[in-house]
Amino acid sequence: MASIEVVQSTGYQAFLEPVKESEECYTHLGDIHSTANGTFIGYIKFYPDEIRRSKGLVNEACGYLLAKTLDLPVPPYGMILILEGERLIEAHPSLKKLLAAAALYPAWVTEQVKGVPIVSSDNKAIESLKKWSSLPSLIAFDDWVLNSDRSLENLVQGRKKGQFTGIDLGHIFGGLYWDRDLLTQDWPFRRRFIEELWGGDPPLQVKYQVLEAAKQHHSAFSNIRAELDKLLSKLLDNQEDKNKLLAFLEHRASQSYDRIMKGLGVMI
Ligand SMILES: Nc1ncnc2c1ncn2[C@@H]1O[C@H](COP(=O)(O)OP(=O)(O)O)[C@@H](O)[C@H]1O
Ligand SMILES: [Mg+2]
Repeated sequence: MASIEVVQSTGYQAFLEPVKESEECYTHLGDIHSTANGTFIGYIKFYPDEIRRSKGLVNEACGYLLAKTLDLPVPPYGMILILEGERLIEAHPSLKKLLAAAALYPAWVTEQVKGVPIVSSDNKAIESLKKWSSLPSLIAFDDWVLNSDRSLENLVQGRKKGQFTGIDLGHIFGGLYWDRDLLTQDWPFRRRFIEELWGGDPPLQVKYQVLEAAKQHHSAFSNIRAELDKLLSKLLDNQEDKNKLLAFLEHRASQSYDRIMKGLGVMI
């Protein structure tokens, strides 16, 4: 069964290069070592927002665990790394005013996938993506976990033609600042990625494949529930948040088929 390893600061071997900085998330590349995965190059994402209580790290870790359970094409390894503030400041000097050098902070790490994100002008890649056999299950998954941030930019195109990997699950469950009171079943989910790829109306065959994939959600959730519960107990201060999220996910999983059928306008 999939699980998420928490690696202490000694697992951080070296800073390699900064990747991206925004107010909500700082990403850099580093050399990492973990017992389960050996030595590898990882993308290290740090969500610094303590004041508004960003749930970016919770979302990334839970989303990754669920995606792995469904066997979706995500980076081969994902883990939580505890880092000294000093190391984060070394990678992102602007964090100096926010972090204490000697304090410890958790970050989300995924193993580097060779390739580059798809750019919107690359029509060949987009055509190849539309034929990709894993796309329907990824679309169904995004619908289940409310991933509003699926985009070409969050799909890494491998060197081999027709090979892609989904990244970036920071905005699932309705976003970085979800709150248990917002986790209601009528949460509106706009299928933006389907709009981007097919103007909102994918071919019927794709719709059927998405529906077929949705059938897996409930059993996948049952299989991973105990592990997810354990992970959320570690990551969330409030256990009511945990219980509400688990119930929300279970219910959405049981409704995935019907919800997607309605959402995509499929009559059976
Ligand atoms: N595991 C990975 N393998 C390859 N590239 C990655 C990986 N994780 C992140 N990236 C790269 O880093 C960029 C930022 O990561 P992402 O998770 O999308 O963060 P953000 O939330 O800032 O968009 C991505 O657009 C991609 O280029
Ligand atoms: Mg991204």
